[in-house]
Amino acid sequence: MKKMMSQASCRNGLQVCLLLLMVGRLQGRVTAPERLEAPVEKPFTLMCSVLRERGESLKQVRWLDVQNQTLLSYLPGQRDSVSGQQHVELASSPKDSSAITIRRVGFRDEGCYTCIFDMIPSGSKQGQICLTVTAQVTVDSNKTAVSGKKASLSCSYGLPEKVQQIIWRHTSAQGDSSQVASFAKRSDPMIEPPYQGRVWLSASLSDSQLTIQPVAIQDEGCYTCLYTTLPAGQKSSTVCLATYVLPKPQVSYKTTSPGVIEANCTSVSRPPAEIVWNVERDNRTMGPPVTTQLPQGDGTTLVISTLTVQSGLLKDVSVKCLVHHKGLESPIAVSMNTKIGTALTILISVTTVAALLVMSLCFCLWKCFLRKEAD
Ligand SMILES: *[C@@H]1O[C@H](CO)[C@@H](O)[C@H](O)[C@H]1NC(C)=O
Ligand SMILES: *[C@@H]1O[C@H](CO)[C@@H](O)[C@H](O)[C@H]1NC(C)=O
Ligand SMILES: *[C@@H]1O[C@H](CO)[C@@H](O)[C@H](O)[C@H]1NC(C)=O
Ligand SMILES: *[C@@H]1O[C@H](CO)[C@@H](O)[C@H](O)[C@H]1NC(C)=O
Repeated sequence: MKKMMSQASCRNGLQVCLLLLMVGRLQGRVTAPERLEAPVEKPFTLMCSVLRERGESLKQVRWLDVQNQTLLSYLPGQRDSVSGQQHVELASSPKDSSAITIRRVGFRDEGCYTCIFDMIPSGSKQGQICLTVTAQVTVDSNKTAVSGKKASLSCSYGLPEKVQQIIWRHTSAQGDSSQVASFAKRSDPMIEPPYQGRVWLSASLSDSQLTIQPVAIQDEGCYTCLYTTLPAGQKSSTVCLATYVLPKPQVSYKTTSPGVIEANCTSVSRPPAEIVWNVERDNRTMGPPVTTQLPQGDGTTLVISTLTVQSGLLKDVSVKCLVHHKGLESPIAVSMNTKIGTALTILISVTTVAALLVMSLCFCLWKCFLRKEAD
């Protein structure tokens, strides 16, 4: 910024340029950026340069930290002369300048740093750099949750020391926005009345976690976590949640005319399921399946796939309806044959039990009768 300004001024005229150089001289001949922003948890390099005049030599360079304590000092050209604190190191820099790297910037590194060039014979020249530590709000990537189960959304900010409070807001697909929960320093998490009992917020300013259990269809939408920080103001990030209702498909069928069976495979889900039959290409199906979608009032969709087949097909091959849904790892298969099979098994079992009962009754009666006769 400063450099750009001086370049612009230089273009305007040599006189202004000279004036600027003189001002620089009066300020002590050390150039350093006045203000810098350093992202937290990352290395950061600070650099100062000194204008050395003919006959002058640089004896020592010192850096002072935000508390004016020596951070690092060294004699130029002598690698083993470097001494200083653990969390900083000397970085390479052009001639007549000095650079140090803070290995991992933290909240405590915020403040003003001083670079001091001890010159012979003219004495010490110093410059100052003020560092502001910054952080980003990071949030999960978009999520899906199954209705009735649990959903957790998390959001974090690298500088909890600067945070006053965090607020979570929900915005529905229709655009309605409402506050869900908040947590402020030295207080308990607050859940707004409509969400009480099924929404929880962690008591943390750095890593905030919003938990919804059980998840409802109306919880779908985008959630914004809003950090109020000092002195930077508000910072936020948004994550979106989709809620799924998993299908529980069923097959029903009836004989519509002799030798012809109409089968329905039905599924209620969100988003709508895709239904296919495993025998669609068999020549004994009477045309392709007919699918209808009926949106239900609660946000789910009823899908009915109707397949008409010749009854002979059921005797020879297994007929299944396969329900595909985004929320399922593999499709759900519902077989028509097993239904017939089960019905038949039940019928046989019931008949057998009944026959046994009748037989034992007869045996009993016969025995009693025989005894009586013997008496
Ligand atoms: C460090 O020294 C400068 C003057 O050189 C002074 O303005 C500043 O307040 C000092 N800072 C601390 C933390 O002592
Ligand atoms: C998250 O979902 C929202 C809305 O569905 C979309 O606008 C946004 O691009 C998604 N973000 C990512 C990272 O996929
Ligand atoms: C299949 O669904 C349709 C409605 O889409 C209905 O009219 C028909 O009676 C159903 N058939 C069976 C066997 O359930
Ligand atoms: C159906 O296909 C089989 C062979 O896959 C064939 O033998 C049969 O005649 C066909 N039936 C009809 C009604 O086309």
